[in-house]
Amino acid sequence: MCGIVGAVAQRNVVPILLEGLQRLEYRGYDSAGLVVVHNGQLERVRSIGRVAELTEKSANTQGLIGIAHTRWATHGVPSLRNAHPHISKDLIAVVHNGIIENYEVLRTRLTTAGYEFTSDTDTEVIAHLIHSHYARGNSLLLATQASLAELIGAYAIGVVAADNPDQLICARRGSPLLLGVGIGEHFIASDVSALLPVTRKVVYLEEGDIAEVGRHSYQIFDAQGKRVERAVQISEMSNESVQLGQYRHYMQKEIHEQPQALADTLESVCNSQSLVPGIFGAEAAATFADIDSILILACGTSYHAGLVARYWLEEITAIRCTVEVASEYRYRISVPNPKTLVVVISQSGETADTQAALNYAKAHGHLHTLAICNVPESALVRLCKLRLLTRAGPEIGVASTKAFTTQLAALFLLTLVLAKQRGRLTTEQEQKHLHELRHLPSAVQKVLDLEPEIAILAEQFANKHHALFLGRGLHYPIALEGALKLKEISYIHAEAYPAGELKHGPLALVDKDMPVISVAPNDALLEKLKSNLQEVRARGGELYVFADANTHIQAAPGIHIMQMPEHAGYLSPILHTIPLQLLAYYVALQKGTDVDKPRNLAKSVTVE
Ligand code: F6R
Repeated sequence: MCGIVGAVAQRNVVPILLEGLQRLEYRGYDSAGLVVVHNGQLERVRSIGRVAELTEKSANTQGLIGIAHTRWATHGVPSLRNAHPHISKDLIAVVHNGIIENYEVLRTRLTTAGYEFTSDTDTEVIAHLIHSHYARGNSLLLATQASLAELIGAYAIGVVAADNPDQLICARRGSPLLLGVGIGEHFIASDVSALLPVTRKVVYLEEGDIAEVGRHSYQIFDAQGKRVERAVQISEMSNESVQLGQYRHYMQKEIHEQPQALADTLESVCNSQSLVPGIFGAEAAATFADIDSILILACGTSYHAGLVARYWLEEITAIRCTVEVASEYRYRISVPNPKTLVVVISQSGETADTQAALNYAKAHGHLHTLAICNVPESALVRLCKLRLLTRAGPEIGVASTKAFTTQLAALFLLTLVLAKQRGRLTTEQEQKHLHELRHLPSAVQKVLDLEPEIAILAEQFANKHHALFLGRGLHYPIALEGALKLKEISYIHAEAYPAGELKHGPLALVDKDMPVISVAPNDALLEKLKSNLQEVRARGGELYVFADANTHIQAAPGIHIMQMPEHAGYLSPILHTIPLQLLAYYVALQKGTDVDKPRNLAKSVTVE
């Protein structure tokens, strides 16, 4: 999704803006641009290529104040004229993340008032609107405030004016934005990683906030226009964690970081002798005692984590659990139940659909809310009563990997805590699970050792156009996740089915050109799965089976076996995810795609 960086300093801000944009590249974008105020004029540079191209084009640009942007197209195709910043009458420049829903009405009104539109974007109305108020003698702050009052939709914006070299204005509603605090300089960004080279001191703006930012001070006003103080926080994100190091891609790095990410997420639990609800927050014990069902809301990979959790929760805790795609739930008339625990799962904590689904659930009387999230300061964490933070560290690759497996670990903890509180977990079972959790990082490490084998296997997929993933029970969502990874980064069309569903339709697709990838844990459904695999083989389908030890599935012509370790019981979905991530990664390498920034996708989906 779009990214914003801005700076007001006593030095040339162009290198700061460019490095910030480069650090936001992982979010996904199709054009980039910046504007600085120099000698009373706006100097704008835009590019439809990578930030590297913008850097070349900006070689002779300098200024002590400026704003910059990477754009992920919503209104209007990716093009130079649609790239931000957008400028009104050489005086006002704006960068914007989000979507303005009433832009057509505003565009008509502003056109009638004499404003000329040079782009197809919704953002340009903001620039002209601010100009219209500024031209009437209002300060830049007041002009922006008045303009925002007319907007319907979501935004994070940065604004500068050619005749004001000392102040930039920024505001947010529905899209994240933060201030960076320096010495004699201040910054704005949509993501803290953009600012790490210049400061770690950050102030997260809240919904409806607007800020006037100068070199030596800043002032924040809330949605009612009242001056407010927001806490300065020290970001814990380390600069190294966003460096590539020895790896070829962030996705590869992040796949390999999973043992550490899991160890960090489970640290407090594994260091103690028993499980306590307090890991979810001070009110967790009372909240958990008051619930009779669970509703999980999430999108994409996070939704798949929720699907795995449903199997755990219903089987181990006997609490009824439903899992819904957030973008559907938010518009569905459902039956509220105040005794439901609403669990939102999100890597970023900023996904617009998940946020809207949570707000919708709350508005319908669901007050027991829990966020499982990787970003401590994110909107979802702030909106929920309870939380469990996954400690995966920054995930830069667009395709989610370590965030997913740490979400699973967190959801398994939720299952155990609820089971214990309901008397469905004996002390021995609790100790056994704790032991397995302590062992999990090294079990994942062992699976990562399959990497060279999987790299060779991936060569067989380079010329394929379709793939089918199969799983059963707890591992059906893992098949879904494997298919999602493959399609996201290799652009091979992939579908996932519960293996028992094959004969009800998808078997018609199977022939020698359709590779069938199967997750084959040594669990209670193994024999059923084996029969399903026979159905594939009998139709000439090529089978790729990730099989636990002792499954006795033999390699044969058309049957390729990847040997997994011993069956890991309830934690098996976490282990079986790893080879599917590696497979997608190596197939994408074969196809030569942009692994970390697959086409058309964005890391943080902050628009609907
Ligand atoms: C897939 C992927 C997406 C995200 C989805 C939700 O690899 O990353 O499907 O899982 O956009 O994002 P979060 O978890 O940030 O809410």
